[in-house]
Amino acid sequence: MTHAAITGVGAFLPERIVTNDDLATMVETSDEWIRTRTGIRERRFVSEGETTSDLGAGAALAALADAGLEPSDIDLLVVGTSSPDMIMPSTACLVQAKIGLTCPAFDVMAACTSFIYAIHTATTAIESGRARRVLVIGADALTRLVDFSDRRTCVLFGDGAGAFVLEASEGPGVLGIDLGSDGSRPEVLQVAAGGATMPASIQTVEDGLHFLSMNGQEVFKFAVRTIPATTKKALAASDLSIDDLTWLIPHQANQRILDTVADRLKLPHERVFSNIELLGNTSAASIPLAVNDLYTSGNLRQGDVLALVGFGAGLTWGAAIVRWTKEDL
Ligand code: UT7
Repeated sequence: MTHAAITGVGAFLPERIVTNDDLATMVETSDEWIRTRTGIRERRFVSEGETTSDLGAGAALAALADAGLEPSDIDLLVVGTSSPDMIMPSTACLVQAKIGLTCPAFDVMAACTSFIYAIHTATTAIESGRARRVLVIGADALTRLVDFSDRRTCVLFGDGAGAFVLEASEGPGVLGIDLGSDGSRPEVLQVAAGGATMPASIQTVEDGLHFLSMNGQEVFKFAVRTIPATTKKALAASDLSIDDLTWLIPHQANQRILDTVADRLKLPHERVFSNIELLGNTSAASIPLAVNDLYTSGNLRQGDVLALVGFGAGLTWGAAIVRWTKEDL
């Protein structure tokens, strides 16, 4: 059987750093509240004119270079995002033009779980023989959708992009994947206006309906229930158990979520990766950015078993178990 293996990893972050103290000049909040409730100290913001596809293109070029491939070697591009440059065309098409790809390109929208869904799509394409080299990007600029007068959300998010090159290989690679969605409660985390239900109007703008709105406590409860469950299912599909995991790499939304998940899975906290302190919640980008951090800091070894686990609006969730096959940097 043909498997999908990660052969390239890349990341791209906007230059602008925004600290908790910076945000405290915009809304009634404090560095202390943000750090103790979320673990976040600073995050990156796109600058005026910088877009999700710019971030994605930067991460893609880095992943291609890491894999030692040219754009012409890629036969499918999948971009996971929920802050597309525009409703159409897809962000994937815009990235494609920026980096000179010629292959089919499309977006996957599963909010913060988008990268795991995109990995599933890429793996399926490779395992079925429909593609041999797939570029997968998680890119988001959610700070463009956030209401900077709403302290419940504006302190959480940062912008960035990460990318993987997945290639056909004899051994895995990507092992088991578990995906799920429950569309019965869209209002828990949504951007209500700007689509076909509520096209942009003066009223929707006045009512702030183009901004991201979230019931934080509901998402928190959902996350700490769902991450352990989907991780266990994906491990079972891989014939592995929690004890086999080298790293749990969850979507970076809140340090308290990561700590609770570690306790519930009885994993030592140091095996649950976190970089939320410096990046905040970068949505679809957080998982590939986390893998990139581990990889470039020399903390991944051939044979390591990683659980990449996402959750977010939809509600959606998913986990992909990966055996790390790249040589050390
Ligand atoms: O990738 C998408 C996923 N999103 C998430 O995973 C978010 C999950 N949820 C969370 O991370 C947490 O629920 C939050 C960080 C969003 C909120 O933390 P919390 O401990 O659940 O706080 P809370 O909503 O219960 O609010 C507690 C208090 C409230 O004040 P009162 O009503 O007790 O007087 C809030 O108004 O904290 C207040 N508050 C703030 N205070 C200072 C809320 N946001 C802020 C803030 N600064 N930024």
